[in-house]
Amino acid sequence: MSNPDVGKRAAAFAAADLIQSGTTVGFGTGSTFAFVLERLAQRMRDERLVVRGVATSQQTTELAKKLGIPLAQLDEVERLDLAIDGADEVDPKKHLIKGGGGAHLRERLVAVTAAELVVIVDDKKLVQLLGKAFPLPVEVVPFGWKHAARRVAATGCEVVQRMKNGAPFVTDNGNYVLDCRYPGIADPAALQRTLDALPGVVDHGLFVGMAGRVVVGDAQGKVRVLP
Ligand code: A5P
Repeated sequence: MSNPDVGKRAAAFAAADLIQSGTTVGFGTGSTFAFVLERLAQRMRDERLVVRGVATSQQTTELAKKLGIPLAQLDEVERLDLAIDGADEVDPKKHLIKGGGGAHLRERLVAVTAAELVVIVDDKKLVQLLGKAFPLPVEVVPFGWKHAARRVAATGCEVVQRMKNGAPFVTDNGNYVLDCRYPGIADPAALQRTLDALPGVVDHGLFVGMAGRVVVGDAQGKVRVLP
């Protein structure tokens, strides 16, 4: 059986090779991004590459530490040269759904601080219409979250609270996540504006107009870049 990670790994390695010595890089979260750290650790050893990262999650922080990759806090840096991160869906305009791992709030805060957000995906994540297959993650504060969930549902979706091991999933920021199933998101920018204005909503996984290059890996390990 073919390895399902080939495309993710190929995209991640290609993006890791964009990193230049002496730079500070936003480190994303997820199974695709984990391959970036693997390649980076190799390059630090083989090429004596000097790099530091700002991590978007506890998960990435732990992995970077394990691999000996130096980290800084977001507030310790003026700007980031680059951010690299995965996505759950990418549409033809390079709008994204993120947050499958629940790290989208910090991912957004890191991405907007970077000169460019380089997105890494396998070709299975390319879709014509966002949200048809993947539910949109929406992060809400726990206080009065059921009211927030009703306000989110009124935007036209079915809302399910994300759970983990029988308890509500809690983000690194102490919030809950609602996974919101839309029939498809025809106008991501309009939905983003609506969600941004809802009381109780801290953030969501719609990243509209934020992606720079999108590096796509396929099942043969071939990579192409959507400019
Ligand atoms: C984390 O919250 C997400 O935004 C991830 O970047 C996204 O879910 C992609 O994850 P995988 O690389 O594990 O598919």
